[in-house]
Amino acid sequence: MKRLTNLFFISALAFSGLAGCKSESEPEPPATMQEVDYGIVPAPAQLTPKGGRFTLNAQTRIVLSGQTTQLERVGAYLAGILRPATGFDLQVGSGEAPSENAVVFQTDESISSPEGYRLTVSPSLITIKAGRANGAFYAVQTLRQLLPPQAERDTLQSGIEWTVPAVEITDEPRFAYRGLHLDVGRHFFPVEAVKKYIDVMAMHKMNRFHWHLTEDQGWRIEIRQYPKLAEVAAWRKETLIGHYGDKPERFDGQRYGGYYTQDEVREVVRYAADRFIEIVPEIEMPGHALAALAAYPELSCTGGPFEVGTRWGVYEDVFCPKEETFTFLENVLSEVVDLFPGEYVHIGGDECPKTRWKASSFCQDLIKREGLRDEHELQSYFIRRIERFLNSKGKRIIGWDEILEGGLAPNATVMSWRGMEGGIAAAKQEHDVIMTPTTYVYLDYYQSKDEGEPLAIGGYLPLDSVYRFEPMPEVLTAEEAKHILGGQANVWTEYIDTPEKLEYMAFPRALAVAEVVWSPKAKRNYPDFVQRLKHHAPRLEAAGVNFARHALKD
Ligand code: ACM
Repeated sequence: MKRLTNLFFISALAFSGLAGCKSESEPEPPATMQEVDYGIVPAPAQLTPKGGRFTLNAQTRIVLSGQTTQLERVGAYLAGILRPATGFDLQVGSGEAPSENAVVFQTDESISSPEGYRLTVSPSLITIKAGRANGAFYAVQTLRQLLPPQAERDTLQSGIEWTVPAVEITDEPRFAYRGLHLDVGRHFFPVEAVKKYIDVMAMHKMNRFHWHLTEDQGWRIEIRQYPKLAEVAAWRKETLIGHYGDKPERFDGQRYGGYYTQDEVREVVRYAADRFIEIVPEIEMPGHALAALAAYPELSCTGGPFEVGTRWGVYEDVFCPKEETFTFLENVLSEVVDLFPGEYVHIGGDECPKTRWKASSFCQDLIKREGLRDEHELQSYFIRRIERFLNSKGKRIIGWDEILEGGLAPNATVMSWRGMEGGIAAAKQEHDVIMTPTTYVYLDYYQSKDEGEPLAIGGYLPLDSVYRFEPMPEVLTAEEAKHILGGQANVWTEYIDTPEKLEYMAFPRALAVAEVVWSPKAKRNYPDFVQRLKHHAPRLEAAGVNFARHALKD
């Protein structure tokens, strides 16, 4: 992992001696590379091969030309990612654009997409134009993929010529929401593993990290007002061995758990923001709450006692819609809102059995008092109250598609996971939608039928199937289609217990999703993607990513 270091500002004067060194009449060599040879993932909207190569050396300057305030951090980020492998301590400064041996960043208001950019590499100069810093950052990610793969190593590489093939790229994303999810409830992933995951996301221009922080089997975020969430809810006494449903059941007898302190959460939020990634934190309710109930059984309908979950699946004990529960959740969410500056809080809403609510006289009285039809409407009452609270804090909610069942909360965004239907219904009701269907983007499913494939939850989603994901349903009108914000791949971790296995399951399938949500639909071409992935693989290897190689074999 690479860190940013100091910015160096150099006056425009310092460059005046460099200008005009290169003869204007020197002809550029013809292009010898095809588009696919550039190996860029996700595929840029437009790429024109050019001839010759730019050579990066210790004297190359990073120059912020024009409006620089937005671009400073991107220039510093570029210097930071280049430093470990090249050993170059490239200077970042503002000033007039030199004519050679520089990476020049320019603000260009004519680039209207907030995440769009234009990257021009000639043998003498690299120019990056963007309307906003986000676009400049994505240009840097493209540039990074044009360097020799050794540039991704975190130690000094000797004997490498750091050249970049000449090219002209005009690029912008197809969708605004380009997400990747991680369940840290079933298994806990340390901060370093989460940062590396975020790094791989950034490299492929993804911009939303959905951090699934609470589960039946573990609560993973420190909440100061409720210390038992860290002391009790974050730990389970043991874990199921093998697959859920295997008989007889066996457990490992090992206490397991962990949680992120608020300082660690802030550190990850900052790390993601430096990479133009917004974190969507998820606090699950009313279901998938057993770990919280083990710590605070008074929030259940039966009073408990409970243990933090040790097996997978769906548990009957869920939050009871009592005032005490709303007070707890509002206090929890107040701390969550203070930690996460992003637009959204995900409140779960999936897989909430209604068994306990049916048997509870409190819930049945509440249903009557509120004039609700059934327990599904009681769940909607629950979600609406939470939405009202989060809206009052300036946040929007996202919920899994079950939040449609008793009627949608007024401003809710729907994450459609049980196929696309929930998303289609929500868009028709003028609600925003993020598509995450099990049929294409559940990366906890098997990716191969090879013998020796590590244990997974089930299903079969090889890379080419994931690549066929199309977030935009054909049945929507143009107006309804505007509500489809984008797509996301989900990584549930019942059977993923190490960072190495996480990377193996997530990559390269998440890169197929990155391409689906970034690249123009007309550019989607699986054989071409695989070819580019072959170029790209040494880069992932150099970055130390344990990606699956099935699609690269032939
Ligand atoms: C889900 O997979 N239960 C959202």
